[in-house]
Amino acid sequence: MTDETRKLLAETTALKKAAGEAAASVADEKELERWRVKFLGRKSALSRLSKSLSSLPEAEKPAAGRALNELRAELEGRYGRIQRQFAEKKAEAGKGRIDYTLPGITPAIGSLHPITKTYYEIAAFFTALGFSIADGPEVEDEFHNFGALNFPPDHPSRDAQDTLYINDEWLLRTHTSPVQVRVMLSQEPPLRVIVPGRCYRADAVDASHYPVFHQVEGLLVDDNVSLGDLKGTLAAFAEYVFGPGTKMRFRPHFFPFTEPSAEVDVSCAVCDGVGCPTCGGKGWLEIAGAGMVHPSVFRNVGYDPERWVGYAFGMGVERIAMLKYGVNDIRLFYENDFAFLQQF
Ligand code: PHE
Repeated sequence: MTDETRKLLAETTALKKAAGEAAASVADEKELERWRVKFLGRKSALSRLSKSLSSLPEAEKPAAGRALNELRAELEGRYGRIQRQFAEKKAEAGKGRIDYTLPGITPAIGSLHPITKTYYEIAAFFTALGFSIADGPEVEDEFHNFGALNFPPDHPSRDAQDTLYINDEWLLRTHTSPVQVRVMLSQEPPLRVIVPGRCYRADAVDASHYPVFHQVEGLLVDDNVSLGDLKGTLAAFAEYVFGPGTKMRFRPHFFPFTEPSAEVDVSCAVCDGVGCPTCGGKGWLEIAGAGMVHPSVFRNVGYDPERWVGYAFGMGVERIAMLKYGVNDIRLFYENDFAFLQQF
């Protein structure tokens, strides 16, 4: 073995020892980097020795080369281990800490559905007048939905093309009026209630019809109630919901469970009653049906029609919401279109 080779091997051994000792005292990433430059960098002793390899005799190159390769592998391995240790320590120290510089997450604020908002407004008006709120099932029987309300057995609205039947006896209520019957069967007069709820009819869908819709029923039973009370109450209601100056009119109509009966119109808020596309040129828009409770209905629930009088009304919530908010298509209420709903 030449002296040169011997010297190289001795230096390799010494280098291994020196690097090992130096690594033991590396305390942070900066020191680690300095260690790397010193022992593995381009100007390190290891580099220099590797370059000198070419000047050794051919026969001694393999052994010297292997020694240098092993040393490099060991130093690189050590570097990697220390680096990982530092990374782990850092991660551990950061656990549970909050980065206050991150921008916060703004919660999206929801809003009430326009049908709900409209219902709340209707309820606010009538509860202020002493009405309480009653509730009833959406799946009804023929007795409550029709029979007790004085619908004769062959009345066209009982037909399956108008009404969604579950079987011969049960159906999806076509209006909130069956709750009038339920309230009167369970309470003694005097009473005043409103009844919000979903109703169903087998209607084809278009801009103003939908198979599911909402009504608010009203029922008042007392002494000395007149059609004037009904009209005055609904006139005040129209001004409350649509603004002062809103006019209201009763158009004679027929309902089996009220007598006399009327359809209730309000003056069109869009054109002020002059006539426009929204009101079909009529200047008026229908929002409810109403009338004085029919004596037969009182008899059907066991009230004495000679003793008590009452009025009832049923208003369409979608209709009122459409007028109030200028919505021209009922389908918008049910499509869950975020852009539409976010306006309320
Ligand atoms: N129930 C009727 C309808 O849905 C409305 C109404 C209610 C009419 C109460 C008179 C009295 O058309």
